[in-house]
Amino acid sequence: MALFKTITLLCLLVVSVLAIKGEIRKFPDTLSFGVATAAYQIEGAWNASDKGESIWDRFTHTTNSIKDKSNGDFACDSYNQHKRDVEMVKELGVDFYRFSISWSRILPNGFSNKISQDGIAYYDSLIDDLLEANIKPYITLYHWDLPQSLQDLGGWTNPMMVDYFTDFAEVAFEAFGDRVKTWITFNEPWVVCIEGYGGISKAPALGMNGIAEYICAHNILKSHAKAYHLYDDLYRSTQKGRIGWSLNANWDHPATKSPADIEAAERAIQMNLGWFAHPVFSKEGDYPQVMKDRVARNSLAQGYRRSRLPEFTPEEIAYIKGTCDFFGLNHYTSTMIRSLTTTISMEPNFRDDVDTDCFYDPSWPEATSSWLKVVPWGFRNLLNWITKTYNNPEIMVFENGFSDKNNKDDVDRISYYNQYLNALLDAIEDGCNVTAYTAWSLMDNFEWLQGYTERFGLYYVDFNDPRRPRTPKASALYFKSILETRTIERNCNAQLNRNGTG
Ligand code: GAL
Repeated sequence: MALFKTITLLCLLVVSVLAIKGEIRKFPDTLSFGVATAAYQIEGAWNASDKGESIWDRFTHTTNSIKDKSNGDFACDSYNQHKRDVEMVKELGVDFYRFSISWSRILPNGFSNKISQDGIAYYDSLIDDLLEANIKPYITLYHWDLPQSLQDLGGWTNPMMVDYFTDFAEVAFEAFGDRVKTWITFNEPWVVCIEGYGGISKAPALGMNGIAEYICAHNILKSHAKAYHLYDDLYRSTQKGRIGWSLNANWDHPATKSPADIEAAERAIQMNLGWFAHPVFSKEGDYPQVMKDRVARNSLAQGYRRSRLPEFTPEEIAYIKGTCDFFGLNHYTSTMIRSLTTTISMEPNFRDDVDTDCFYDPSWPEATSSWLKVVPWGFRNLLNWITKTYNNPEIMVFENGFSDKNNKDDVDRISYYNQYLNALLDAIEDGCNVTAYTAWSLMDNFEWLQGYTERFGLYYVDFNDPRRPRTPKASALYFKSILETRTIERNCNAQLNRNGTG
């Protein structure tokens, strides 16, 4: 690691020189830093010991959907190499490591009547190694890999999932809660429901647009709330941890200053982020009014006898409200929004319900992922929108990152992090209460439908080598230097930020 040390020293030197020129910004002590991964994307060992099959095992083994025809059978082999993972996390100098638990690794048949001792031992060892290295373990309970046995019962369209998920959560609290103090129930429920139930770009690829995503979200909201209450009632007083979830959101920017576009952009953010955030974080709870109105109106016009958006009872609204100790946010990019006046199609469709035209400004710099454009001011705007709309919650950013193809000298990723971290500091100066920032991802990994063709890692993983060696990219060294000094230079790559401040 001599090279690692030399480059770190060089980075520190550059930072010090910039500090002398007065272009350095300091992060507040209240902001902690981490890196993230997810079980299916890194662990491999898909059938090791008594592990059960997950929907991603089934999806990758039985469909032709993955771009490079790959799967997560072996992935980064973290099941066998977690000690190296912890070493990397330590090298970076982060405060916490956010990873997820594979449900079917600890509950092979999905239910809590049979607990895998090997599954528990794996996470025990990871947690202990992290604590030994002075890094806090943050656990995501559900990062998309449902046991196939529960999918066979309808997955998130089955209301019984509320209990099954709570049972799974309880097993995790019991096994790990003595050492884990930050819990994230669900990662990006919007993606789970829109892409896996309404659409077909994530497992289980149900494709029942306009119907299944609303049922899925309804059950996930209830599952989250029940797990929260369980923790609150039975575990919080002894384990003294915190629990929330992580919602994905773009910044939806009005394409023009016209009242119609401004309203459309607000509607887009309410019906995407607000769909999950409003029931938990707003004063009144429940789905956003605009969402209830739109889906009900379209459903009636399409001949349904009731809204395709299920209704909560007043008791359920009260039960779900307030069930997060922090506002977890995954953010990568922004979209431009124009208002539309479409005639209502007879086929139900989430996009018609929202009824906006989304596009990317062609001047925005691009990542390898087609959906990822570099728009740092959108991050600042979004953080301010959340702060204003939900009465200044504590915001923990649990994912932010940039994709490329195959690059260890990843200057574009460095530029992205520099700009987005500056935008984060701007938002903190605006008054947003942001207490965590997490880079996605610790290392290159299985990027869902894109297989291994899009890389998000700070560490490079050689997927052609059976040993899956990991090497720090230039961005890992950059991130490390930021963490060492808890400072950052002001927009060192401002030339990439061509779009002003929105
Ligand atoms: C998020 C997801 C991660 C990762 C990332 C990059 O939506 O939570 O698992 O894939 O996007 O696409």
